[in-house]
Amino acid sequence: MDLEKDYIVATRRQGPVHRILKLTIVALALVVCLVKLDFFFFTVEKIEHPKDIVLDALKENLARNWLYTYASEKHLAGTNYGLVEFTRKKFEQYGAKATVDDYDVYLSYPEDHALHLLDKHDKVEYTAPLKEDAFEEDPTTVNDTIPTFLGYGANGNVTANYVYVNYGLTEDFAWLRENGVSVEGKIAVARYGHIFRGLKVKFAQEQGAVGVLLYTDPADDGEVVPANGYKQYPEGPARAESSVQRGSVQFLGGVGAQPGDPTTPGYSSKKGAERQDPHNSIGKIPVLPISYRDVRPILAKLNGHGKKVPKAWKGGLDDFEYTTGPNPEASLNLYSKQTFKITPIWNVYGEFEGENKNEAILIGNHRDAWIKGGAGDPNSGTAILLEIARALGQLQDSGYKFKRSIILQNWDGEEYGLIGSTEFGEYASKKLQKDVVAYLNVDVGVQGKIFQLSASPVLNKVLRKVALWLPYPGKDAGSLYDHFKKEAGDRIHNLGSGSDYTVFLEHLGIPSADIGFKSGPKDPIYQYHSNYDSFHWMKKFGDKGFVFHNLAAKYISLVALELSKHKVIEFSLNDYAKDLLWYFQQVKDIVPKKWLDKQVPHHAMAHYIANEREVVESIYFSTQGYYTDRKIFAFEEFLEPYQCPHIQRMTMMDTLHHKKASFGDILKHTEHQLENLEKDALLFDTESISLQERHENRERLHWWQRIKLHFEIKHHNKLIQYFERNFLYEHGLHERPWFKHIVFASGRLTGYAGQTWPGIREAIEDEDFERTIKWLGIAAKAAKRTGAGLSVE
Ligand SMILES: *[C@@H]1O[C@H](CO)[C@@H](O)[C@H](O)[C@H]1NC(C)=O
Ligand SMILES: *[C@@H]1O[C@H](CO)[C@@H](O)[C@H](O)[C@H]1NC(C)=O
Repeated sequence: MDLEKDYIVATRRQGPVHRILKLTIVALALVVCLVKLDFFFFTVEKIEHPKDIVLDALKENLARNWLYTYASEKHLAGTNYGLVEFTRKKFEQYGAKATVDDYDVYLSYPEDHALHLLDKHDKVEYTAPLKEDAFEEDPTTVNDTIPTFLGYGANGNVTANYVYVNYGLTEDFAWLRENGVSVEGKIAVARYGHIFRGLKVKFAQEQGAVGVLLYTDPADDGEVVPANGYKQYPEGPARAESSVQRGSVQFLGGVGAQPGDPTTPGYSSKKGAERQDPHNSIGKIPVLPISYRDVRPILAKLNGHGKKVPKAWKGGLDDFEYTTGPNPEASLNLYSKQTFKITPIWNVYGEFEGENKNEAILIGNHRDAWIKGGAGDPNSGTAILLEIARALGQLQDSGYKFKRSIILQNWDGEEYGLIGSTEFGEYASKKLQKDVVAYLNVDVGVQGKIFQLSASPVLNKVLRKVALWLPYPGKDAGSLYDHFKKEAGDRIHNLGSGSDYTVFLEHLGIPSADIGFKSGPKDPIYQYHSNYDSFHWMKKFGDKGFVFHNLAAKYISLVALELSKHKVIEFSLNDYAKDLLWYFQQVKDIVPKKWLDKQVPHHAMAHYIANEREVVESIYFSTQGYYTDRKIFAFEEFLEPYQCPHIQRMTMMDTLHHKKASFGDILKHTEHQLENLEKDALLFDTESISLQERHENRERLHWWQRIKLHFEIKHHNKLIQYFERNFLYEHGLHERPWFKHIVFASGRLTGYAGQTWPGIREAIEDEDFERTIKWLGIAAKAAKRTGAGLSVE
């Protein structure tokens, strides 16, 4: 009250000069407002075809230059600051706001190694060179190369008999157990393939193995092998016989593990972070990678010993039978020494600021490689990223103002366990969940000619649309989309893990895509994580004229631009909802038939019906409140009507009476929620299209209608932006709490491969009836909450 009086007195005291001054300021402010309003509501975009400017910039192709720069020097994670600076300067030169973001993380660097085959008197019979051949014409294979090693492989010097364990899958170890072959106290020799290598080590360690040898079997190269007359690299497209696949043996998506720095699980490794024992995520036994040439005498020694193996276990080496061993008269001495330390890594970011910074599009690629080259993995992607920076820079220079921000991100430490991206995601989780629309990843941008897409289904529509705009190289080859339909059957894969999108999608619920050109069955063998993944290989076999690098740069630039400039964010929510239902039908197929008529016990039913409060809270924050209506979080249809006066009081749920239901009823009920979501999403998408049309024809509207439309779209966009956040579960997956996404996860037994409805699926696999019901409840409630959010506009 007093304040008000003071204010009146103060205004009365102002003289006429004051008043004129004030009026002028108000008038000026009004004019500025009107000009701004005009900008937002009245004018049509000044530059009509930003797409053409991007394509024009990419008529020039500098990918080869960038690739040469990155793939000429060693650049293992946390080393080569020169390339950090190079990247930062390029971003800056092209007009992006460039920054370097560092983390202190736990890494291991190779120091020494040895592998000897010993006879029954422990005399050395053979010493493996553990080195890839040098080829004069390929300069990064010649001198000062990075040793063959496996990141995070434990230090040790062990001597033991050894056993061939096929791919080292859980099934393989189960087969060995059933056939009386023990790996306890032995060294496991596994071939690469099917699952992430770190899980092979995890499973071997769990079986009591004391060391692991990982090798590449030519049988897994398919068609293009010397046995079919193909010459080996560098003369021909087949794998060089001395080629060794390096890599990380972190446990990645395995039970109890997560990506990122193993000493800071779930939180970021900024300087001074508290450290924990890393051994939930990394192993304790020494491991070495080896070529098929060098493993030959070792496996040959097992010939005729142990058990005969099933046909599927036989590899492509023809001088022995692939029996399991052990051979009591042959042992291996395996020695590996690495330096483990906490050391800085550097992410580089380049931001093209848009008018709307709260709706950002991210494009990420990592920089670090296991070898001097790394031409395919990851620097084809880095070359593409710089080309994107150049094209967007040219667009910005032409006077174009981005609508939503586009931020380029060049990660460090991906190879060891998605470290740079994960630590950043954990550090900036709140901001990212609030501000990011989508994350586009390019890791191996080019290793062949076949276009491959993996994505969160909301992105399918825009990914297909942009592919229609670009021609595929070659005479009469049609569009990139024609190629994609022909070669990939129009199929966009699910995301699992294995690259930097993992934290964005599976931890933060941000729609993501992974984009690149892969090799087909008749293409040159991709020399993954070997010295031969070099500039020379790329120029001779991978992408001769760098045309696929250029095409990828065009494609990703245009996808990002389209997501940035389309007034109504161009997601198809119905594609997502349809896929949810389709995945659910696949899950239904693995439900044991005997469960269907089984009664659901009271407490499990209460779990299914009611919501756990903290789940609501976390969804509330990650969707910024756009989706959460607390009243809807119970399935009233299962309650006796007179028993539920306070349905919102979730803590009361256990004491409420509900109708009897069988597992089959619950299954049907969950499916029904997904069907409803599909309908709601379809209506919502129709509304999106209509809003976009009204926006495009806004000159026909009165100014107040334009203002109204502006705010309608703003609200609608937030629902689109936060849609996927609804499928996070605060407590994460069973025994993998870091993985919060309830629809997409990497398989706990495979590491890379994507898996859908992991919570439900794993509970069924574990034959855990009540846990299955709990996860059905989580899915059903997410679907109901999301649908309600979409339909209450
Ligand atoms: C490696 O080879 C390059 C080119 O052949 C040469 O310039 C360089 O001095 C060599 N480095 C070492 C450490 O031998
Ligand atoms: C590893 O162990 C073997 C056998 O016990 C021994 O001969 C060798 O010297 C050891 N190597 C190192 C580097 O300690």
